[in-house]
Amino acid sequence: MNSVDLVIRGAQVVSPDRIVPAAVAIAGEQIVAVGHDDLMPPAAQELRADGLYLLPGAIDSHVHFRDPGYPHKETWKTGSAAAACGGVTTIFEMPNTNPPTGTLEALRLKQKAAQSSYVDFGIHGLFGDDTVDRLEELLEGGVTSFKAFVGNTFGNLPAPSDGALLEGFETLAPLGIRTVVHAENSSILQRRERHLKAAGRKDALAHLAARPAVAEIEAIARVIILAEWTGARLHIAHHSAADSLYLLRDAKRRGVDVTVETCPQYLLLNTDHMLRLGGVMRLNPPIREARHNQPLWDALMDGTIDMIATDHAPHAPEEKTRADIWACDCGFPGVETQMPLMLTEVNRGRASLMDYVRWSAVAPAKAWGLYGTKGVIAPGAHADIAIVDLQRRGVLSQNRLQSISKISPWNGRAVQGYPLHTLVRGRFVMRDGQLVTEAAGWGRSVKGVQRMPTPQPRHTEHFIGAVLQTPPGVPRTATPLSDVAE
Ligand code: NCD
Ligand code: ZN
Repeated sequence: MNSVDLVIRGAQVVSPDRIVPAAVAIAGEQIVAVGHDDLMPPAAQELRADGLYLLPGAIDSHVHFRDPGYPHKETWKTGSAAAACGGVTTIFEMPNTNPPTGTLEALRLKQKAAQSSYVDFGIHGLFGDDTVDRLEELLEGGVTSFKAFVGNTFGNLPAPSDGALLEGFETLAPLGIRTVVHAENSSILQRRERHLKAAGRKDALAHLAARPAVAEIEAIARVIILAEWTGARLHIAHHSAADSLYLLRDAKRRGVDVTVETCPQYLLLNTDHMLRLGGVMRLNPPIREARHNQPLWDALMDGTIDMIATDHAPHAPEEKTRADIWACDCGFPGVETQMPLMLTEVNRGRASLMDYVRWSAVAPAKAWGLYGTKGVIAPGAHADIAIVDLQRRGVLSQNRLQSISKISPWNGRAVQGYPLHTLVRGRFVMRDGQLVTEAAGWGRSVKGVQRMPTPQPRHTEHFIGAVLQTPPGVPRTATPLSDVAE
């Protein structure tokens, strides 16, 4: 047997349907064997992992690394270091940078910034009225997927018009490319915010009052209608409300290819926390009343919600702690704390480790066309592995975050369950809880391994591309035929 680079022994290997004691052999960037200890090839390096669990590295569909544009909030190096230390091996980065990722030039800037990444990455390109004619060009340039800011948020990108949404979906449907949608109705949000400001409200709960669940319900319904008509793949970002789940259940039942993420903050936090923490917890969509928490768990359990993402949205502490809620930037860091928070819930019996792997790795790998190469611990897959200690207890501390944004609503929260080591394509990016600084720049775009199966387009006879020419046999003017001299 050929010698391999690393054999990990003594751990339990977790997949969505079983947990088995097994050794794992890694050669170069790939897993080459999973099985009994005695069957492992000789290895240059061995790691004892007795009592630990091997999880496919988490795949976070929603992070903001802020470069280009706002390097004081985060850079690719610091954001991806946070991912590495959070057991996250692949991230998908959002286009609301400055410039936004809606032109080839802006994409080049982002790709340059991404060269310092510790972890593998996809890049969501911007889907808006100004970019809808450039989607194919952006795909050729290297974006993996798109993001439509249907609800306004940090960066103030205008929401795409319904017409542009339809046209963009028509372009993307036959290519099988999935669009992430920030699903809130901008018009509702803007009017509410104006009224609340005029009434003098600037308390923390005014932010929630400006963004009622109906804004999420309406936007989800609308994008589902357009996606279903065109056959385009859809991904609902940061799902926050119990009230809009029925739309997703119905759409999935009808066969619409819609995937859905929620985030730890919507599962575990509510307005009680917001009252205590104020602007620190301002984010979009807002943290809602406690009645939303359990239905979101139930939706994860029954598959209505597919996955956990973090919406890692770092800002400087002074941008989060102003007296006026409207002056506090929206969002907070999360890519580094997701795994300990969720493992704590596993320890509390709220979900199994297998459920967690389905939500953190398998479902996102499938949604972005990476499954088999990523999202699984099996021969032939990338060796993207989080090695976790389910016993280890600690307290989350914002000062110890790799992120530049040292302000987090999770600060001081007791957790049980931490990633100890993180491997990206066979290389340690975190070892014994420490960032491996030499691994900066190891991360690679997943564009090269992404395979999106082509869906069946629907209603193509109405697609904009199909109706621009007068069809053969149809008179070229609307003049009634009886009026034309014969
Ligand atoms: C995000 C950000 O800061 O970029 N903020 C947020 O409140 N979630 C943008 C977003 O994802 O909406
Ligand atoms: Zn968003």
